[in-house]
Amino acid sequence: MIQKYIRSDLQNFQPYSTPSLPYKVKMDSNESPFPLPEEIKQELIQWIKTDENLNRYPDTDTTQLRKELGKVWNMKKENIICGVGSDQLIDCMMKVFLEPKDKVLIPSPSFSMYALTARMNHGIPIEVPLKDNYDYGSTQIVEAYKKYQPKIVILCTPNNPTGNSLSIEEIEKIVSQISCPILIDEAYGEFAGESMIPFVEKFPHLFVIRTFSKAFGLAGIRVGYGIGSKDIIDAISITKPPFNISTLSEKIALLALKQVPTYHERIQLLQEEKKWLKNQLESMGCQVYSSKANFLLTKIEKKNIRQALMEKQILVRDFSKHPNLSHCIRITIGTRHENELLLKALREILFKKEDKS
Ligand SMILES: Cc1ncc(COP(=O)(O)O)c(C=O)c1O
Repeated sequence: MIQKYIRSDLQNFQPYSTPSLPYKVKMDSNESPFPLPEEIKQELIQWIKTDENLNRYPDTDTTQLRKELGKVWNMKKENIICGVGSDQLIDCMMKVFLEPKDKVLIPSPSFSMYALTARMNHGIPIEVPLKDNYDYGSTQIVEAYKKYQPKIVILCTPNNPTGNSLSIEEIEKIVSQISCPILIDEAYGEFAGESMIPFVEKFPHLFVIRTFSKAFGLAGIRVGYGIGSKDIIDAISITKPPFNISTLSEKIALLALKQVPTYHERIQLLQEEKKWLKNQLESMGCQVYSSKANFLLTKIEKKNIRQALMEKQILVRDFSKHPNLSHCIRITIGTRHENELLLKALREILFKKEDKS
């Protein structure tokens, strides 16, 4: 009955879904394994008790958070926009720039939301395959740009799900040959330690997005931000819904920015865990790709590995059906305890011997 009223290009559209499954260890969404730092909890309780102001609508411009982010990045608040997760900013960017059937250049494999969001906004995603080792080929991207004349080009660095990144020099080389708006997705930027944000004045067609969902461990508050020239921020503001960031979310993000040393320690710890886990997986015979992010793309030559792990209540992301990622799963780095539980489960599955320890 209702089906016939759905837009014809969305009739068979499969929306993004992540099933909520019971778990002991959650390593499927590249979240942080750490809880909110104690200092933030205390300040939040105090704020709720004294001046929450939750009977009012939030500041539609998220002014305070943009100002504080401006101090972090040495940028003006006019160069910054906040979104309900960086997802919303990807959507706003497509909404404002795409006319029906405009093309969006997307690396492949990469974050699945790019293609979905392009389609939802009447665009056509054009996938540019990464090289055999999943490195970006800068020449291929520039060639594809010339061939397809897209309205938007997307570079995800470090790339999800492969973990590889582009150097600043490589990105500069690419963006200087492209004139349409370019989205640089740095959702995992804090783990890689490099950013294109200092280059947004030099390249006014860049829109660099970051998020509080990964290194800041705040996936639950849904706050992301984008930085770019005033022109690109003004353009993207056209499609940003009003009051998008809740007062509560803005407050928590502000408190998080006061705890940067704690987050640095946590990032360091996860980097060490990543190195350790990579070695352990390799010693079990798995192929593990180098990663600049908080996850490892791992090739395991055994069928239904994700299902077998799921039965042990360990969640990982399965990519084995992706044409360029056969036998691959993506494992988010956890605490040492979580990583050990994963390894124990994998040993049981791969070597079929019940580990009773
Ligand atoms: C590459 C990339 N970009 C953007 C996002 C969206 O993050 P959020 O909307 O939580 O900021 C994700 C989430 O997994 C991601 O992997």
